[in-house]
Amino acid sequence: MVTLTEQGLSRRSFDAVVKYFETQSGIRLGPDKHALVQGRVQKLAHERGERDLDNFVNRVLAGADSGALTQLVDRLTTNETYFFRESEHFQFLAQLVTQPLTGGSFRAWSAASSSGEEAYSIAMVLADRLGLTRPWEVVGTDLSTEVVHKASRALYPISRAKDIPDYYRQRYCLKGHGPHANHMLVARTLRERTRFMTANLLEPLPDIGVFDVIFLRNMLIYFDVATKRDIVQRVVRALKPGGYLLPGHSESLANLDLPLKPVRTAVYQHA
Ligand SMILES: C[S@@+](CC[C@H](N)C(=O)[O-])C[C@H]1O[C@@H](n2cnc3c(N)ncnc32)[C@H](O)[C@@H]1O
Repeated sequence: MVTLTEQGLSRRSFDAVVKYFETQSGIRLGPDKHALVQGRVQKLAHERGERDLDNFVNRVLAGADSGALTQLVDRLTTNETYFFRESEHFQFLAQLVTQPLTGGSFRAWSAASSSGEEAYSIAMVLADRLGLTRPWEVVGTDLSTEVVHKASRALYPISRAKDIPDYYRQRYCLKGHGPHANHMLVARTLRERTRFMTANLLEPLPDIGVFDVIFLRNMLIYFDVATKRDIVQRVVRALKPGGYLLPGHSESLANLDLPLKPVRTAVYQHA
């Protein structure tokens, strides 16, 4: 029997992938990420029936397979998220929505929404506090088409429900049956007011209007100060006057020289 040993990803292909990914996402992956990049390229190449990784990379980067090119970017982004992550922000939101800022519809944006857990956590708080007769809306955006698609489905493995406080889970989550027995679905009333689309925060924003509160959490950590400033500056333009910007708890917005004043830990207000 002949054993086929698979070649790894060459340094040249690694550099080419990393360079392309940086042009698309602004995220620079260092040489220490070789194993991670190789693993993700390998998985994608196998799914597409290709075993030679360098060949695959050459072909895809040359534009021979645009579907695989989009997927390559998707696979290299870090999409970790969960419901009610950094719960202090949801307590803050619950207090905030008792006094709408400008009247009219209360609008929230989950600006790097990943697979939607953040946006639906926001929706649960808004549904609870504002009810379904008052106008409110949640928009979720992400660079990755794959996670945006998942977010729009609103269907999650049941194990993810453990992060949702009982109070919200009982009101806004539906347990799946039959083929979806191990899944939960976010209630239709919330899905109807939550929409998702792709958007690259390094580029001009799509026309999504202005917001009372923007969650921009756990994506700024990947960028240098100049890029971080550029992103936050663009995002701040989508805040209503007096609106709030919520970065992740480990992401400081200090010294960016932007019209934001710190209000409490990881909460800034449009000045
Ligand atoms: C770690 S997840 C954070 C998800 C969620 N905000 C949270 O805190 O749980 C980071 C997300 O940022 C997205 N992302 C990375 N670069 C981006 C860019 N340039 N524009 C928009 N989204 C980006 C990734 O696709 C990923 O889904």
